[in-house]
Amino acid sequence: MALHGQTTILSLPANARPAIEVVGLNLWYGKFQALHEVDLVIRSGIVTAMIGPSGCGKSTLLRSCNRINERLGYVTTTGTIKVLGQDIYADDSSAIQVRRHVGMVFQRPNPLPLSIRDNVLFGHRLHREQRSSRSDEDGLVENALREVLLWDRVKDRLDRKATALSLEEQQKLCIARLLPTKPAVLLMDEPCSALDPEATRAVEDLIWDLRGHYSILIVTHNMAQARRASDECVFMLMGRVVEHTKTEAMFVSPQKQETSDYIEGRFG
Ligand SMILES: Nc1ncnc2c1ncn2[C@@H]1O[C@H](COP(=O)(O)OP(=O)(O)OP(=O)(O)O)[C@@H](O)[C@H]1O
Ligand SMILES: [Mg+2]
Repeated sequence: MALHGQTTILSLPANARPAIEVVGLNLWYGKFQALHEVDLVIRSGIVTAMIGPSGCGKSTLLRSCNRINERLGYVTTTGTIKVLGQDIYADDSSAIQVRRHVGMVFQRPNPLPLSIRDNVLFGHRLHREQRSSRSDEDGLVENALREVLLWDRVKDRLDRKATALSLEEQQKLCIARLLPTKPAVLLMDEPCSALDPEATRAVEDLIWDLRGHYSILIVTHNMAQARRASDECVFMLMGRVVEHTKTEAMFVSPQKQETSDYIEGRFG
């Protein structure tokens, strides 16, 4: 198992292109402003945790990074979000294209009511330009399931319904099905909140294993999890980013009073 929290930041060149760059982002649900002038740079190849009290805008910010909010007709935004240098809200960019590069995992595992195999291939089939052969698809399924450490457990029952898996297995499958389109960024919104402590640990370990291969932005209410399983940490309050530093620094010597109040459980 990885030595969470003890690991040093991956040695990426200082000028490596950021995974996500948010500049001056404001977001309104109707008349209610949920995000205020958010500036944020998420580095490539590391795990960044996002913490803050309920309602501070963590999910809103995460959903903005793969254009899920726009399905609500009453959302307006100003500012820009770039993923690997590309403006994801530019006129020549589509939400489908964006989601190929930016996958998202939700609080409750949400496998489709299809077989394990068809779940893994779903995104790939949506995005592919030509039909792939059965053996190409088999390779994609095996690789994705190996990456999330599920292959040995499910290789003999790939045609069974994914919904029959345990919650831990379902959540790993929901991560696996993002991988065949080779995303750069994985967004995870409290991915362990529906899991018991043992399953939480297993999924956390998996997220840590994926570090380096993907840039991961994960929302959590669990301070221990943020501290154990992230390189950098972002603290949000009332729609604003209050502090963003290396995780150890945030927990040992937070710069802002609000951050230390939150970490020490004085509110939220
Ligand atoms: N679809 C929506 N329509 C209208 N308002 C919304 C919508 N989603 C979120 N909000 C509001 O925007 C604010 C930020 O919500 P958001 O869900 O982003 O917070 P959060 O930090 O993820 O909270 P939690 O920790 O409870 O998940 C809240 O005031 C919330 O009520
Ligand atoms: Mg949320």
